[in-house]
Amino acid sequence: MSEVSRALFEPIKLRGLEVRNRIWVPPMCQYVVDKQDGVPVAWHLMHYGSLARGGAGGVVVEATGVVPEGRISPQDLGLWNDHQRDAFAPIVELVHAQGAKLGIQLAHAGRKGSVYREWGTEAPGTSVPVSEGGWQTVAPSAVAFPGLAEPAALDQAGIDRVAAAFAAAARRAVDAGFDFVQVHGAHGYLLHEFLSPLSNHRTDSYGGTLENRARLLLQVVDAIRAEVGQAMPIAVRLSATEWVAGGFDIDETVTVVRWLGQHGADFVDISTGGNVKQAPIPVGPGYQVPYATAVKKATGVTTSTVGMIDSAFQAEQIVATGLADIVMVGREFLRDPSFALRAAETLQVAVGYIPAPYRRAYRR
Ligand SMILES: Cc1cc2nc3c(=O)[nH]c(=O)nc-3n(C[C@H](O)[C@H](O)[C@H](O)COP(=O)(O)O)c2cc1C
Repeated sequence: MSEVSRALFEPIKLRGLEVRNRIWVPPMCQYVVDKQDGVPVAWHLMHYGSLARGGAGGVVVEATGVVPEGRISPQDLGLWNDHQRDAFAPIVELVHAQGAKLGIQLAHAGRKGSVYREWGTEAPGTSVPVSEGGWQTVAPSAVAFPGLAEPAALDQAGIDRVAAAFAAAARRAVDAGFDFVQVHGAHGYLLHEFLSPLSNHRTDSYGGTLENRARLLLQVVDAIRAEVGQAMPIAVRLSATEWVAGGFDIDETVTVVRWLGQHGADFVDISTGGNVKQAPIPVGPGYQVPYATAVKKATGVTTSTVGMIDSAFQAEQIVATGLADIVMVGREFLRDPSFALRAAETLQVAVGYIPAPYRRAYRR
């Protein structure tokens, strides 16, 4: 097969980190920590190892609570203690041995925390009571996400504890060997709740103007940077629109991304939605790409896109035409962990990282 050069398979550099291609795996919760202690299990080793083995450039570990009450479900991962940190290290090692880079999404679920996972219960996605291992959720304001328990509004000390917990978790991520961290600022979780006027009704310096609503996100990024030093790239995932009037929107997103760039964030991962229960979202192939493109063009910050991108040609077109710098492929990678290697084959790119025992399965 003749060798072809494709934008999707060009390496990308973020600070000192070079990643082998632009086809990455976004964070996807597995909800398999049955002991409810936030510690990774064998499933995670297999799951992340196989995604790396399948040719992805960067893989982002699922939403990982920076504090116990920052988890979505009791079965989420956590990084609030050293035992969890030590259990991540073999996963990082396995991913590195496959030539991929590993990030971790540091998360606080805010008012959308303490819910049942999607299986093994009659009430998936509803609040787990404290008596059954759930917890009192927190948020910028005591306004419930529809159908979930009412959160407690964070006070200044609580806000400062959140920022410190993100920084401490980032330190543990560095010590476990992770290549980058991604701050979860999207999908209606705590940092997005602060950004959105729909969920943030505060009257102090964390509410009202965009500058105030973005204060905690920037505080978190600053705290992480102060803790991890200059070497490690920091990513931030944002929801660029809530798909309803009056929400955090693309214009505000562009402004926040400019600020994030000034605060040393290295790339942004542009998603949408999650803070409004029933928003009219026009789901379809690449439906979030225009938001990533708008952010990239207006700010010059390295930008990834995500959402219903599931073919090699579609992904190549996005990077080759400059619509985004990185393409995150979620559910298609769950269906086929070798999606990146198959994309290379489809696009006729001779990548050097087909695992030796698998080479006979590919044409080269
Ligand atoms: C099983 C599953 C779990 C997910 N968990 C997370 C998560 O932990 N953090 C996050 O930011 N997004 C999460 N998402 C959203 C994905 O990262 C991605 O944005 C979404 O699936 C759209 O991309 P896709 O169409 O390629 O799957 C999850 C999606 C799925 C399907």
